[in-house]
Amino acid sequence: MTSLRLAALAALAISLAPALGAQGHAVSSPDGRTVVTLALRDGRLTWAVARDGHPVVTPSRLGFTFRNAPPLGAGMRVADSARASGDETFALPWGEVARVRDQHNELRVKMVETAPAAREFWVAVRVFDDGLGLRYELPAQPNLADFEIMDELTEFAMAEDMKAWWIPANVPTNDRQEMLYASGPISKLTLVHTPLTLQGTGGLQVVIHEANLVDYAGMYLAGSSESRTLRTSLTRWKDGSAVKGRTPFVTPWRTLQLADAPEQLAPSLLTLKLNPPSRLADAPWIRPMKYDGIWWGMHLNVVTWSSGARHGATTGNARRYIDFAAANGLGGTLVEGWNTGWDGNWLVTGGSFSFTQAYPDYDLADVARYAKEKGVGLIVHNETATFVDNYERQLDSAYALYERLGVHAIKTGYVGDTANPGGHDHQGQYMVRHHRRVIETAATHGIAVVMHEPIKDTGERRTWPNMLSREGARGQEYNAWGGEGGNPPEHETILFFTRLLAGPMDYTPGIFNVLLTRSETNRARTPEEARPRSTLARQLALYVVLYSPVQMAADLIENYANQPAFQFIRDVAVDWDTTRVLHGRIGDDVVVARKAKGKDAWFVGAITDEQARTVEVPLDFLPPGRRYVAEVYADGPRANWRDNPLPITISRQPVTSATRLRIAMAAGGGQAIRIVPAR
Ligand code: NOJ
Ligand code: CA
Repeated sequence: MTSLRLAALAALAISLAPALGAQGHAVSSPDGRTVVTLALRDGRLTWAVARDGHPVVTPSRLGFTFRNAPPLGAGMRVADSARASGDETFALPWGEVARVRDQHNELRVKMVETAPAAREFWVAVRVFDDGLGLRYELPAQPNLADFEIMDELTEFAMAEDMKAWWIPANVPTNDRQEMLYASGPISKLTLVHTPLTLQGTGGLQVVIHEANLVDYAGMYLAGSSESRTLRTSLTRWKDGSAVKGRTPFVTPWRTLQLADAPEQLAPSLLTLKLNPPSRLADAPWIRPMKYDGIWWGMHLNVVTWSSGARHGATTGNARRYIDFAAANGLGGTLVEGWNTGWDGNWLVTGGSFSFTQAYPDYDLADVARYAKEKGVGLIVHNETATFVDNYERQLDSAYALYERLGVHAIKTGYVGDTANPGGHDHQGQYMVRHHRRVIETAATHGIAVVMHEPIKDTGERRTWPNMLSREGARGQEYNAWGGEGGNPPEHETILFFTRLLAGPMDYTPGIFNVLLTRSETNRARTPEEARPRSTLARQLALYVVLYSPVQMAADLIENYANQPAFQFIRDVAVDWDTTRVLHGRIGDDVVVARKAKGKDAWFVGAITDEQARTVEVPLDFLPPGRRYVAEVYADGPRANWRDNPLPITISRQPVTSATRLRIAMAAGGGQAIRIVPAR
């Protein structure tokens, strides 16, 4: 973009903004479609959003309440304001795209109390073509130094009672976000997690979330008695306060992603633009990869985390998984249950987990050496059971050991809830601080992190690209546990438009034995019982649909033997130049195309819910005038998730950018496609 055009845009933004006064200050997106207005009403600052001239958020409250101090937000005057614009493009070391353009207009307004205390804060708004961020800045000041925020008063008074896709946040056990999504109008919501995806009747899509959560409490959204207004509800410490801090202080950005259709929601890059630039400019040890692991067997109870005759993490087993990874071009092997502390009920005794001491039948140094020899990265598992202090005490020694052994990736875990002796709310300030400490300490040891039961993703990977992936939603593991607890076919078609908008997810796809015929715990089953409610082809499609820079080949490796379909897992990329959603309806189906990083190769993933569907998509993302071959992994004859999930048809067909591809998916099915130049 030329500086001339930039100047013109800035001038336009300024001309759209009314002068200081009752009407307020406005700032518009570079394309002019979105306008955010900050206005003073009866001494209170409010914010509002319009798009194409129609209200999206009607004037909504801002401010705070504190412990031992009066609320902040009423009896205010506007004391100052400032504007800025930015347009820069930054590269991502890995991602669903290679480059991100950050083009925005910014408005900051300074509010000062008219009362004698004269406390002050700034509200900053940044508006992009794809959404906006709003945050508070609390400068250092005598009457507001150390503080404890009880409530943040930010409200989202939505103009329309939009349809929401949500998971509840109303009891301590669901702070791990591992629930199935429900949908319904805003006016029926009680307390929900973000990202919260909203859809208007006219096609408008709004996603409420947050960015750059560094030292604050995670934000839930509370519905308010049959109204369209959502209130910020901060996760609390056990002492009842939400955020402990000291000025100068900035809050996370409250973000609204805006789009005209579901297809435009991904890739979601808004939160990356609202996080500081990378602190790890040159870190070749951070590597996107596919991985296998000693993992699914524990969930099927074929092997155990704990020691004994069925112990999974033996040196021999680890070597087998490393051999398999090496033979199949997978970059890593995960080993769980290698360290002491798993015996008995680890949910209760998790405070005695060691992160350096291996069980006698697992030689950590030998396994690490073997992995290195084979060119495979060992992923060391650190389950904390939420005994966070026990983990923090060992962080330095454990990471130093892993570094010495040439380990560059760990998987952390936080199974447990606030009721645990060591437990803290997964989304609270304590855990926000903890995860930052883990990410930063790991970085100093050249270690990348995959988190389970994590703090939600607010774009940390921009600043700390060693923050690779996380769970933070109901993953494949639920399909192993029996009973009624599995994921219905529509689950992943919702995940794509909700949780995945926050960032990568370690869903762990690739279960080929979807009937779980070897499961010890989960054998006699009706179709409705927990098992992957998926065809085989759909398991392949998930590698493309559910973005993560680390993708597990999650099944027992013996289940990949003599499976032609495994070739797709060998081939599929995990790092991308571009991503385009070709088709999508939240909760029904989605078709995604991604271009492999630095390669002339494209991958398409398509999944449907419990309905069989056929979707026709143009391949106009291919460069024109060149001939390609599409290798198609499709649901086979009469395939369906319920009673015939395994048939898969693998075929090849010539394609060009002019081709329209017919993608036929079975009930609970999907399709995976690799497109490479024709020879
Ligand atoms: C839950 C995690 O999601 C899963 O991947 C892991 O195997 C278990 N916790 C044990 O740590
Ligand atoms: Ca989990």
